[in-house]
Amino acid sequence: ARALQDGVSSLAFTQLDHAIEPDHAVAPGYRAEVLIRWGDAMFPDAPVFDPWNQSAEAQARQFGTQNDFIAYFGEERRSDRGLLCVNNEFTFMTYQFPDFEPFGADEAALAHSARAAMEAVGVSIVHVARGADGRWRVEPGPATRRISATTPMRLSGPAAGDERMRTSASPDGLEARGTYGNCAGGQTPWNTYLTCEEGFFLFFSGEPDPAHRETIAYQGYDLPRPNAFPWWRHAEARFDLATEPREPNHFGWVVEIDPFDAEARPVKRTALGRFAHEAASVTLAPDGRVVVYSGDDRPFEHLYRFVSARAFDPANPESGRDILDEGTLSVARFGADGRLTWLPLVFGEGPLREGNGFASQADVLIETRRAAKLVGATPMDRPEDVEVRESDGSVWLMLTGNSLRATPDAANPRANNRYGHVLRMDPPRNGAGRPDPAADVFLWDVFIRCGDPAEDSHNALYHPALSQSGWMTNPDNAAFDPAGRLWIATDHGMDIGHCNGLWATDTHGPGARYLKHFYRCPAGAELCGPCFTPDGQTLFVAVQHPGISGEATITEPLSRWPDFREDMVPRSAVVAVTKADGGPIGS
Ligand code: FEO
Ligand code: CA
Ligand code: CA
Ligand code: CA
Repeated sequence: ARALQDGVSSLAFTQLDHAIEPDHAVAPGYRAEVLIRWGDAMFPDAPVFDPWNQSAEAQARQFGTQNDFIAYFGEERRSDRGLLCVNNEFTFMTYQFPDFEPFGADEAALAHSARAAMEAVGVSIVHVARGADGRWRVEPGPATRRISATTPMRLSGPAAGDERMRTSASPDGLEARGTYGNCAGGQTPWNTYLTCEEGFFLFFSGEPDPAHRETIAYQGYDLPRPNAFPWWRHAEARFDLATEPREPNHFGWVVEIDPFDAEARPVKRTALGRFAHEAASVTLAPDGRVVVYSGDDRPFEHLYRFVSARAFDPANPESGRDILDEGTLSVARFGADGRLTWLPLVFGEGPLREGNGFASQADVLIETRRAAKLVGATPMDRPEDVEVRESDGSVWLMLTGNSLRATPDAANPRANNRYGHVLRMDPPRNGAGRPDPAADVFLWDVFIRCGDPAEDSHNALYHPALSQSGWMTNPDNAAFDPAGRLWIATDHGMDIGHCNGLWATDTHGPGARYLKHFYRCPAGAELCGPCFTPDGQTLFVAVQHPGISGEATITEPLSRWPDFREDMVPRSAVVAVTKADGGPIGS
């Protein structure tokens, strides 16, 4: 079996077994080292992290919690020195405060905790460098930055300034406060960071006025939340829907950040639509227009594509400034004939008109989900990350699963889809033979159906010679290495019987669908943010909520990774993976 394995896949590493262990693990011959943890100092004046004594002031100077997407920006394209931008996705009070008491705590204590929580999310930007010993370290530097749920931001694009964006704190509808629910993201060719507001709806509660226009629009966005985090009651009244009914319209966007300028105001790009944005993967059409793919990670939501109106000129990076403010947002319809049609969401076209409650493009963007359903988009099994394979323009979509699905269709081929699947999409070639991601029609196919191939009831699809270590479930985040191989990170509950981790596969040739297990999370964690340096010699991954899964809590965790100290809680961290004797990851 070993000879076959090596003969099948271009990935030469020895696989890990499935297991649930307190510590993480990586394939033999590789080093996996913690680079930065929740609470680690980012600035010289940051206090030492003390989970029993958290505050907004301390957290604003420390690395955020629940790390997710990672982007690496090499200094002068170097692979040993640059910036790391990391999303800090979410927080639950019981994940963050070991002594949190939902009932009985006094108002001042709850307000104090809620404000600390608002500083624990958003984005952390740090300088990183690889030393002569081959090890990565965080270094001080001018771009070091924390962006949180309280950072001032600008709204731009067609919805900016619209009446529905005007709030008491933003009377002109051009300013917003903070970002959170930041799941995956993207990087632009003009060296900016895109962060996606996914779980924004979790923070709003209260009793909205039933006669208010937005109260009806909330139905498409899972609002209000009866069990929302206590920000709305104890920290800031803007999260109370009765007080500030339009505030949710400031969230659910893609936010663009210049990581090299710590003073630059983040910009919410409304032209890319408003939904539970999972990722924003960028590529260029042959004519220079910018194409951004993004999934909406909720059951039965959709896959979207934005195509800019203007062309980007790589020789003039300034041409990327505000280029994401003007263009066409479309949504995918997957045909049973293997064709994918991009349906434009343009005010005045098709059903997107006055009679259906749309008076402008701003309305179409603020209620993107309703517009998508009206034009006939395909409801998907939770579209998570989407990645472009640059060498051939193919587009790869992780569908993490949807146990609510009763009726399968071609693109979501299993009812009660517990384990998820991966789709592959191919744009047509233009006259010069180059893939054209701005085209109206793509081809698509199911690449893998996840689950255990030994269980007939899973109806899984992989390479027929897949080893017992190679199966996985619930694909979430993904990345291509510089050799064009697909690396998939998983997110499932421990009830699957093994840990979350990272699997890699060739996409073409004899090794296609032959997944190999490379990295295993500590018990309780999910894996996020696989990110390669341009030379392929470093892989950064983000371990999220270690020790906490199912009934486990921050005080009684499944693992105290990465510190393994009784006087420290488990904490999310970024891990740098390198090959002990050098060379590309996976070689
Ligand atoms: Fe934040 Fe869709 O996972
Ligand atoms: Ca995700
Ligand atoms: Ca990704
Ligand atoms: Ca996730």
